[in-house]
Amino acid sequence: MMRKIHLKSFGCQMNKLDSSLVAGALTEQGFALTDKPTEADVIIINTCSVRQHAENRVFSNLGHIKHLKKSRPEILVAVIGCMAQRLGAELLAHEVVDIVAGPTQLHEVPALIRQAMTDHEKHLSVTDKIRQPVADEKIIEAGHKLDDFEIAYDTDSNHIKSQAFIRAMRGCNNFCTYCIVPYVRGPEVSRPPNAIVEQAKKLAAQGIQQITLLGQTVNSYRYESPDKTYTLANLLQQISEIDKVHWVRFITSHPGRFDKSILQVMADNPKVCPYLHIPAQSGSDRILKAMNRGYTADHYIALIDKARAIVPDTAIAGDFIVGFPGETEDDFEQTVELVRRVRYKNAFVFKYSTRPGTHSEKKLEDSISAEVKQQRNTKLLEVISEIAEKDNQRFIGQTMEVLVEGLSKKPHLNVNAEANKNAGAQAPRIFHPQLIGRTAHDYIVVFNGPESLTGQFINVKITKTAPLTLFAELC
Ligand code: SAH
Ligand code: SF4
Ligand code: F3S
Repeated sequence: MMRKIHLKSFGCQMNKLDSSLVAGALTEQGFALTDKPTEADVIIINTCSVRQHAENRVFSNLGHIKHLKKSRPEILVAVIGCMAQRLGAELLAHEVVDIVAGPTQLHEVPALIRQAMTDHEKHLSVTDKIRQPVADEKIIEAGHKLDDFEIAYDTDSNHIKSQAFIRAMRGCNNFCTYCIVPYVRGPEVSRPPNAIVEQAKKLAAQGIQQITLLGQTVNSYRYESPDKTYTLANLLQQISEIDKVHWVRFITSHPGRFDKSILQVMADNPKVCPYLHIPAQSGSDRILKAMNRGYTADHYIALIDKARAIVPDTAIAGDFIVGFPGETEDDFEQTVELVRRVRYKNAFVFKYSTRPGTHSEKKLEDSISAEVKQQRNTKLLEVISEIAEKDNQRFIGQTMEVLVEGLSKKPHLNVNAEANKNAGAQAPRIFHPQLIGRTAHDYIVVFNGPESLTGQFINVKITKTAPLTLFAELC
């Protein structure tokens, strides 16, 4: 009988891509996937260490598994990903955990599972000295191999996907002082361009129409080959030349060393989505310096202006950290000012969380109280939302192309009421469910329509807007 695996992701897009690759490798080796933990022989938890909150969620999940294991003690539990690398043996000591494997050992997961099934021992696989200046050749090779496993179906829903993520690069060398990522994902490694482009072709042939290239600082993608140095702009160009690819995007961009050639490809090529996720983190030069971000607020704003000059109407998304050690009211006000100047499509706001082993944990005191962090978080989100609310109104009446992602998970009441009213006038008995789609600029659009549109590019007309959502009807 086929062994069943339940796999749950707790992290960023990179973490979700890793889950999908591990799922691909496991299914190829004869395991089956299940979305029900109660039916699984193996539960895999792919973890995140970026904030303490992310780690707490994993520990509470392990608490639930403890109950499950009481009735089915034979279930194997594997904890993989960033937290596995950070905590290693400490995590393995947890009573329910059987396997711990870091982000640079994901290729070993199928073998570790088989081993644990036979020897009933605990197994640990992480990289000892992960911050050697250059990643271990063997690890690089194994990583490249695993990266080829991206599959065209969604491990959450077990459906064929219409979009896929492809890794452009692994790791990070930036060492922002607050950030754990360089210590859990290791040095930057760019994948060979031909592997990326071939993978895009293969996925497109299987029905994938949107490709998102991933990297922690994807704009620093560089691959030296004897003939030339390949950049992100080259990858975007080559992928957009694949017939069946309709849209190509990339996340996340770092504002330092952002090459104009990327903007040029976006401007010249309608398949390259006019969307940049380019976190500023702060609007205060003093804090940006303490964060080791390598740019000033003026540099960041100039870059956004340049992007909008070259690619008109580019949608800008961002991330901010509030309550970084020593952040004064004045520093925070400068962040608010930057947000007002840039006018984000949307931006995530995070409360600073001390990460063990980072520069800021060792050298700086977590001096801002939880209350002040919360106040700044709320205030910044209000400003972001107020701006998006105003800016989004310009879309009312416009026709937009969306890629339909599927049924909306949360019902949006106002769109249903309106659409049903319309349906009443034209075709009284057809009540379509609510669907979610995304535009090239990454706006989320909610509209009523048949579920069979999932995975298709269609036109919708915007009827109403909110800060994070556009509401529409089928054209
Ligand atoms: N590589 C991406 C970000 C990866 S982490 C980049 O540099 O843009 C995603 C976001 O988490 C970051 O942009 C940052 O805003 C936030 N973050 C990272 N470390 C954090 C910490 N210690 N506390 C709070 N937020 C953090
Ligand atoms: Fe972390 Fe900075 Fe690297 Fe982003 S660029 S992953 S914030 S160290
Ligand atoms: Fe992603 Fe979290 Fe790791 S943000 S890179 S899963 S620490």
